[in-house]
Amino acid sequence: MQIIFIGPPGSGKGTQAKRLADSHAIPHISTGDMLREAVAEGTELGRQAAPIMASGGLVSDDLMIGIIKDRLAKPDAQKGFILDGFPRTVIQAEKLDNLVGNAKENLRVLQLLVPDEVIVRRVALRRSCSNCGAVYHLENNPPASDSVCDRCGTELTARPDDNEEAMRKRLEAFHRQTLPVATFYKAKSLLREVDGMGPVDEVFERIEKSLQ
Ligand code: AP5
Repeated sequence: MQIIFIGPPGSGKGTQAKRLADSHAIPHISTGDMLREAVAEGTELGRQAAPIMASGGLVSDDLMIGIIKDRLAKPDAQKGFILDGFPRTVIQAEKLDNLVGNAKENLRVLQLLVPDEVIVRRVALRRSCSNCGAVYHLENNPPASDSVCDRCGTELTARPDDNEEAMRKRLEAFHRQTLPVATFYKAKSLLREVDGMGPVDEVFERIEKSLQ
């Protein structure tokens, strides 16, 4: 099964994609996580992406398509994958179409619907673990101890792009550049809209149903 998650920043794509990856035993491929790793490692890609990400803009299509092409060629992605954060522009979606070729009958595109005002609150209270990638929410999914990861004990931090100004730009980019991607898949009858409001478990149930 090949699954694409589309949704505004903070809509729960990462949270749900991780669970789906476990339940379907296919890799969760998050372009945001891959870029953050590159930034942490100080690679050339990370050096180029860091200021763009911090400001809330989008990294260039050419760079992102190259990253995804390499990742989808890896052995674990041959049995299926969950894409979280890609494609984010129509150009990326067209390139992905060429990459997956004839396997389109296995493709499901899920659009998580969450209003902007809810997203702002979700993101403001998000805390992430830079070591194992676990994501928490201080109200809805808090760690046992306020500032430490339950899984690995690392100190939790807010993401640098979760500030008000970058968030405004990320939402703008979503509405202007990524919503047309939903239209692109709708025209191909591949889009399934999922209500992303309510507890994480309920959203997950809706997602599983929409995949049947
Ligand atoms: P990326 O990492 O993809 O960020 P994003 O799309 O802005 O999405 P987020 O990771 O912020 O949110 P999410 O939807 O995964 O929500 P989460 O599950 O964490 O990209 C970052 C940057 O990288 C981009 O801005 C861009 O610069 C660059 N980039 C990446 N891909 C690119 C591409 N293809 N092209 C160009 N540039 C690219 O949930 C959020 C919070 O809410 C958490 O605290 C969570 O615990 C909580 N929560 C989740 N679900 C619920 C629920 N149901 N109820 C209550 N709380 C919930």
